[in-house]
Amino acid sequence: SFEVALARSCLTVKVLAGQTILEAVREAGVAMPSSCEQGACGTCLARVIEGEPIHQDVYLNDAEKASGEAIMTCVSRSASPRLVLDL
Ligand code: FES
Repeated sequence: SFEVALARSCLTVKVLAGQTILEAVREAGVAMPSSCEQGACGTCLARVIEGEPIHQDVYLNDAEKASGEAIMTCVSRSASPRLVLDL
Protein backbone atom coordinates (compact mmCIF):
# COMPACT_ATOMS: atom_id res chain seq x y z
CA SER A 1 0.00 0.00 0.00
CA PHE A 2 0.98 3.64 -0.31
CA GLU A 3 -0.33 7.00 0.73
CA VAL A 4 -1.81 9.65 -1.52
CA ALA A 5 -1.97 13.20 -0.25
CA LEU A 6 -4.56 15.38 -1.95
CA ALA A 7 -2.99 18.81 -1.78
CA ARG A 8 -6.02 20.97 -2.54
CA SER A 9 -8.39 18.89 -0.42
CA CYS A 10 -5.99 18.75 2.54
CA LEU A 11 -6.59 15.00 2.86
CA THR A 12 -4.36 11.94 2.93
CA VAL A 13 -5.73 8.57 1.85
CA LYS A 14 -4.24 5.10 2.00
CA VAL A 15 -4.36 3.06 -1.21
CA LEU A 16 -4.48 -0.64 -0.39
CA ALA A 17 -3.33 -3.46 -2.66
CA GLY A 18 -6.26 -4.30 -4.92
CA GLN A 19 -7.66 -0.80 -4.71
CA THR A 20 -7.10 1.99 -7.23
CA ILE A 21 -6.08 5.55 -6.43
CA LEU A 22 -9.36 6.62 -8.01
CA GLU A 23 -11.36 4.43 -5.61
CA ALA A 24 -9.44 5.62 -2.57
CA VAL A 25 -9.89 9.27 -3.56
CA ARG A 26 -13.63 8.80 -4.05
CA GLU A 27 -13.97 6.95 -0.76
CA ALA A 28 -12.46 9.99 0.92
CA GLY A 29 -15.33 12.02 -0.54
CA VAL A 30 -13.44 13.77 -3.32
CA ALA A 31 -15.30 13.76 -6.63
CA MET A 32 -13.16 12.60 -9.54
CA PRO A 33 -14.32 11.99 -13.10
CA SER A 34 -13.58 8.71 -14.88
CA SER A 35 -14.70 6.91 -18.00
CA CYS A 36 -12.84 3.83 -19.28
CA GLU A 37 -11.18 2.91 -15.96
CA GLN A 38 -8.63 1.00 -18.03
CA GLY A 39 -5.94 3.63 -18.44
CA ALA A 40 -6.89 4.56 -21.98
CA CYS A 41 -9.09 7.66 -22.11
CA GLY A 42 -7.35 10.30 -19.99
CA THR A 43 -10.43 11.32 -17.99
CA CYS A 44 -9.03 10.48 -14.56
CA LEU A 45 -5.72 12.32 -14.97
CA ALA A 46 -4.22 13.98 -11.91
CA ARG A 47 -1.18 16.26 -11.70
CA VAL A 48 1.65 14.84 -9.59
CA ILE A 49 3.26 17.33 -7.22
CA GLU A 50 5.59 14.93 -5.44
CA GLY A 51 6.44 11.21 -5.58
CA GLU A 52 7.16 8.66 -8.27
CA PRO A 53 4.26 7.12 -10.22
CA ILE A 54 4.31 3.58 -11.63
CA HIS A 55 2.53 4.17 -14.91
CA GLN A 56 0.20 1.34 -15.97
CA ASP A 57 -1.82 3.26 -18.53
CA VAL A 58 -1.70 3.51 -22.32
CA TYR A 59 -2.81 7.15 -22.40
CA LEU A 60 0.38 9.06 -21.52
CA ASN A 61 3.25 8.93 -24.00
CA ASP A 62 6.76 7.85 -23.00
CA ALA A 63 7.96 11.43 -22.45
CA GLU A 64 4.97 12.22 -20.27
CA LYS A 65 5.52 9.04 -18.28
CA ALA A 66 9.20 9.84 -17.82
CA SER A 67 8.42 13.36 -16.60
CA GLY A 68 6.30 11.94 -13.79
CA GLU A 69 4.09 15.04 -13.85
CA ALA A 70 0.77 13.30 -14.38
CA ILE A 71 -0.87 10.02 -13.41
CA MET A 72 -3.94 8.12 -14.54
CA THR A 73 -5.59 7.38 -11.23
CA CYS A 74 -7.72 4.46 -12.47
CA VAL A 75 -4.78 2.12 -13.07
CA SER A 76 -1.42 3.56 -12.05
CA ARG A 77 0.29 3.23 -8.70
CA SER A 78 3.20 4.62 -6.72
CA ALA A 79 6.81 3.54 -6.41
CA SER A 80 7.30 5.95 -3.51
CA PRO A 81 5.53 5.48 -0.15
CA ARG A 82 3.74 8.76 -0.73
CA LEU A 83 2.35 10.55 -3.77
CA VAL A 84 1.15 14.14 -3.58
CA LEU A 85 -1.50 14.94 -6.17
CA ASP A 86 -3.04 18.25 -7.20
CA LEU A 87 -6.55 17.22 -6.16
FE1 FES B 1 -9.92 6.37 -18.57
FE2 FES B 1 -8.63 6.47 -16.20
S1 FES B 1 -10.75 6.58 -16.59
S2 FES B 1 -7.79 6.55 -18.19
